[in-house]
Amino acid sequence: MQHYLQFKDFSADEYAYVFERAALIKKKFKSYEKHHTLVDRTLAMIFEKASTRTRVSFEAGMYQLGGSVVHLTTGDSQLGRAEPIEDSAKVISRMTDLVMIRTFEQTKIERFAANSRVPVINGLTNEFHPCQVLADIFTYIEHRGAIAGKTVAWVGDGNNMANTWLQAADLLGFTVHVSTPSGYEVNQAVAGMRSGASCRVFQDPLQACQGAHLVTTDVWTSMGYEAENEARRAAFASWCVDRAMMAAAAPDALFMHCLPAHRGEEVEAEVIDGPQSVVWDEAENRMHVQKALMEYLLLGRLA
Ligand code: CP
Ligand code: NVA
Repeated sequence: MQHYLQFKDFSADEYAYVFERAALIKKKFKSYEKHHTLVDRTLAMIFEKASTRTRVSFEAGMYQLGGSVVHLTTGDSQLGRAEPIEDSAKVISRMTDLVMIRTFEQTKIERFAANSRVPVINGLTNEFHPCQVLADIFTYIEHRGAIAGKTVAWVGDGNNMANTWLQAADLLGFTVHVSTPSGYEVNQAVAGMRSGASCRVFQDPLQACQGAHLVTTDVWTSMGYEAENEARRAAFASWCVDRAMMAAAAPDALFMHCLPAHRGEEVEAEVIDGPQSVVWDEAENRMHVQKALMEYLLLGRLA
């Protein structure tokens, strides 16, 4: 049994398979062809933080695979009344086939997985968001081909998305140019990179974007950090992806944002709504890649 708790849980070879499968699943979805590989399987989705894309993509995706879902939140389950995570894992995993969790500390999802009889998927933690980067890389490949050897510019917070991009770069052979305000740097130990070779740090976000094939950013304040909102707004003022940064990037550079976005903060409206932006494909692709992911975790490689 395999879990998907961080990006490095899969090998490059497994990613090649999942991307290929996601392309097939997407093609069938677009032509209204049934793809019922998970009939009678149930996915439990546990949300301790808000979500739009993760909820809709997992829920719609599981139904499209012929399965069903159970949706739990902290407020409407015993999780909010301090039932130990280990006990919750033992119970939920006796009744379902797969579990997706969005929570706070990575250690919480690890404790759940250690007590689960079924595969567990990370739907976002404070440290990582592997399903999002899975969709982002699939989207890059769809638009531009292989990502190996390319440069991704990360502009903004050294957060869960930044950590996940760094793990992905290590594994899939591309480079990440990281520019964060001081005090919000990526912690390479937390990011869990195998080496620092695929990461270059820049103080100036414009320089980080120089020649990049993909420019990406995220909110200044992630869920769970709202108390720091005011301090972050001041610190991040120069870390707004604007037209000058896109002009410094490669001529055919793409712009991505995991969403939800705040126009006028981490990105200019002209960039996110402009011709280089692929954010809507990126959001849609969450569903296609996660269908491939769920299928792979439950059935392994299919012909
Ligand atoms: N990108 C993402 O995970 O969006 P949600 O918070 O809406 O799920
Ligand atoms: N970094 C953001 C991503 C939201 C999808 C957060 O954790 O809130």
